[in-house]
Amino acid sequence: MTARQPRTIPQPKTFHVTSFGCQMNVYDGERMAELLSAEGMTAVGEREAADLVVLNTCHIREKATEKVYSDIGRLRRDDGTNPLIAVAGCVAQAEGAEIMARAPQVRVVVGPQAYHRLPAMVASAALGGRETETDMPAEAKFAALPKRRVSTPAAFLTIQEGCDKFCTYCVVPYTRGAEIARPYADLVDEALALVDGGAREITLLGQNVNAWAGEDPAGGAIGLAGLAAELAKIPDLARIRYTTSHPADMDDALIAAHGENPKLMPFLHLPVQSGNDRVLRAMNRSHSADSYLKIIERARSARPDLAVSGDFIVGFPGETEAEFADTLSLIDAVGYAQAYSFKYSPRPGTPAATMDGQVPPEVMDDRLKRLQAHLDRDQLAFNQASVGRRCTVLIERRGRQPGQWLGKSPWLQSVHCTDDLALGSLVEMDLIDAGPKSLTGRRV
Ligand code: 5AD
Ligand code: SF4
Repeated sequence: MTARQPRTIPQPKTFHVTSFGCQMNVYDGERMAELLSAEGMTAVGEREAADLVVLNTCHIREKATEKVYSDIGRLRRDDGTNPLIAVAGCVAQAEGAEIMARAPQVRVVVGPQAYHRLPAMVASAALGGRETETDMPAEAKFAALPKRRVSTPAAFLTIQEGCDKFCTYCVVPYTRGAEIARPYADLVDEALALVDGGAREITLLGQNVNAWAGEDPAGGAIGLAGLAAELAKIPDLARIRYTTSHPADMDDALIAAHGENPKLMPFLHLPVQSGNDRVLRAMNRSHSADSYLKIIERARSARPDLAVSGDFIVGFPGETEAEFADTLSLIDAVGYAQAYSFKYSPRPGTPAATMDGQVPPEVMDDRLKRLQAHLDRDQLAFNQASVGRRCTVLIERRGRQPGQWLGKSPWLQSVHCTDDLALGSLVEMDLIDAGPKSLTGRRV
């Protein structure tokens, strides 16, 4: 017999937040930590030592979702009790009621647009309640979050959330809701606070980051390129990135910005998912293989050293061997510097989940392996072609070896070096060696 969790427990003094999934979840996790710290709680590095554990979950693929339940089980302590468990993020949004039913030890379920209420929900859960909040949209949340004080050298800033595109495989429109853009003035304020706190690089985040639209102080309509131009005026901010983009929102101004804004890094993450037009139509992607390739071509003529990254799904329902081969051809045509690739995972409630022609797992495994062989080949080639380049590296953290630092090149490659450097510095380096995942740099 294990001891049962008492109904009421002391108000938690320590907490741990674990974030899964995309960078927007990482951003949300940081904001939750700031909220809890503002309430006087202390962040601890180990889940085992925390009175409150927040699992900030991802719903994008089945595997990510299953992880929540196994993680909840693993939080049980040796004496049979549990910490106060809060499930946040996209699984909370999509399956809140199911989590509450399946896991009685979970006391709080809070969706990605409602986590500004987390401290109040935790307080009342400690008094014996079970709290669920999955309201949308996000405007109230951003207004309620505390001002940012500290930052990492490379910081995230969510500028846009949600999605109106409804790709047929994707849960995001259901978990994060409709597209909303945060107001220009709030974003400039938050960027200034991040830079004050030590950030030298800011990655602008959104599920459709390039759909961001706003008004500048003069009331003029601006898009992502205009926002990046404004942020580039912050003197101590050296680098601007953005992710993740949709081909349909790659407007002329943004493409041109890659050639005009020197702080905008030469890197473009532009998911394509498939290289076959029938599959792209079935996915409800509003582009063809050809229109995608044209965007890449134009972006490369604006910025010749642009590194391109993408997302791919293999085994979408009905995908034939010949259609899959079109994806391999597209990969060969682009030459990706890096990429993410996934087996199609049917998500409940999405149109593709009930389409005919679901592809057997062994076929998906085989296609993923072949696809990744092409991507790995190109990533290594890109890294090897970087050897001999001189560039700035932003030092982001300590490496695993003694005396080693880890930084990022302008092309988002990890760079190791052993020079005597300072965290957060931008260092001029020669890239002297390359592997599949990282490079070695030496200070000039
Ligand atoms: N199955 C597999 N991969 C998916 N993605 C999104 N939904 C699914 C799904 N149902 C991938 C896409 C997207 C990335 C974030 O995750 O490639 O760009
Ligand atoms: Fe996962 Fe999508 Fe939610 Fe990010 S927005 S955590 S990728 S489901």
